[in-house]
Amino acid sequence: MASKLALLGGKPVRTAPFTAWPIFGQTEEKRLLRTLRSGKWGRLHGPEVAEFESRFAAMHGCQHGIAVVNGSLSLRLSLIAAGLRAEDEVIVPPYTFFATASVVVEANMIPVFADIDLETFNLDPQAVEAAITPRTRAIIPVHFAGQPADMTRLLALAKKHKLLVIEDAAHAHGASFKHKPVGSLGHLGSFSFQSSKNLTAGEGGIITTNDGKLAAMCRSMQTCGRVPGGLWYEHHVISSNHRLGEFQGAVLNAQLDRLEAQTKTRDRNGADLAARLAKIPGLFPQKRAADCTRHSYHLFMLRLDAAKFGAPRTAVLKALRAEGIPCSAGYGFSLPQQPMFRNKAFGPYLPKASARLDYAKVRCPNSDLICREQGVWLEQNLFLGRKADMDDIAEAFEKLHANRAALNDLPA
Ligand SMILES: Cc1ncc(COP(=O)(O)O)c(C=O)c1O
Repeated sequence: MASKLALLGGKPVRTAPFTAWPIFGQTEEKRLLRTLRSGKWGRLHGPEVAEFESRFAAMHGCQHGIAVVNGSLSLRLSLIAAGLRAEDEVIVPPYTFFATASVVVEANMIPVFADIDLETFNLDPQAVEAAITPRTRAIIPVHFAGQPADMTRLLALAKKHKLLVIEDAAHAHGASFKHKPVGSLGHLGSFSFQSSKNLTAGEGGIITTNDGKLAAMCRSMQTCGRVPGGLWYEHHVISSNHRLGEFQGAVLNAQLDRLEAQTKTRDRNGADLAARLAKIPGLFPQKRAADCTRHSYHLFMLRLDAAKFGAPRTAVLKALRAEGIPCSAGYGFSLPQQPMFRNKAFGPYLPKASARLDYAKVRCPNSDLICREQGVWLEQNLFLGRKADMDDIAEAFEKLHANRAALNDLPA
């Protein structure tokens, strides 16, 4: 007989907490104190952000790294630095954090949604191709959850249609595609260092590129449109002060020392769990594409097909938490269905184009299905421990499946 669900008074699979995030220690303390005592707290005077920019870029196969205050800004500056113009169309996935699409509007450009693949949860290249119009100028593939998007097909489409490719690698620090690091695959890469991310200083972002011209423009835009050799109060392009501070640079440098080992651990544990969960009827962990040579598992995501599993998502999530496994349903809206897009609450942006846009009518069936019914997320810190942690997670799912009848009887 299946052991009783914790939700119904049984013994939980796990009571110990998982690895807490963020992880920090003496290296962070040393660098922070050194920065404090130096009195050089800004990017213009201290060494930390500059060191971080070159180390992070090099780790991601790039010559240039331009750090900014967050990963939304790194996307928006990338669009503008590349010379895109007002009302240009930019193809984005509907299943991603708000910023991937909202920054397009904030750059006065038009987000066009192309659906994701139901197995990899990344942009479906066929849907991208169908979304291309004569006004399309760029694609922003998200390496969702830490698995690189299908860059072979997306880059081929971009080449054919002369499109800019900005990788949104906010989930994908240290991930690789055919052994090439993300951030170096498109024209520009964008990363976030917000609190939940695999590399964090609380907030922060960076643009990576191997294109010297784009790098120079991003650098200028990072710092009020200034240019090398120019006067201090000489400004060449529209921009503001978007620089990251030295305290964040200090933390990021220390965190970067830990990234390689942490990424290996997450990748090993994530792959292990995916193999075990795939054996349970109705569970579909993110399919690992053959070209994904390293997954950073910012999220471990799966689809739960309630009919095949035998119990609905809400009950499963509730029961899983009671078994000691933190989890969530992830995004509740496909982006076109977000109130901002549905209501075209664009503020001063897109004054003319907005009249002909109708996001309320946009349907992305795969993304819609995942948001509405099937998405299940486990966060990256769960994957920083030992194999025994994966055993607990797998055991909890197995226990829920064995008790699926009881899960259906739970009060709503
Ligand atoms: C896919 C994706 N893109 C962009 C961002 C924006 O990053 P930030 O929160 O640093 O602005 C995030 C972060 O939350 C994200 O998950």
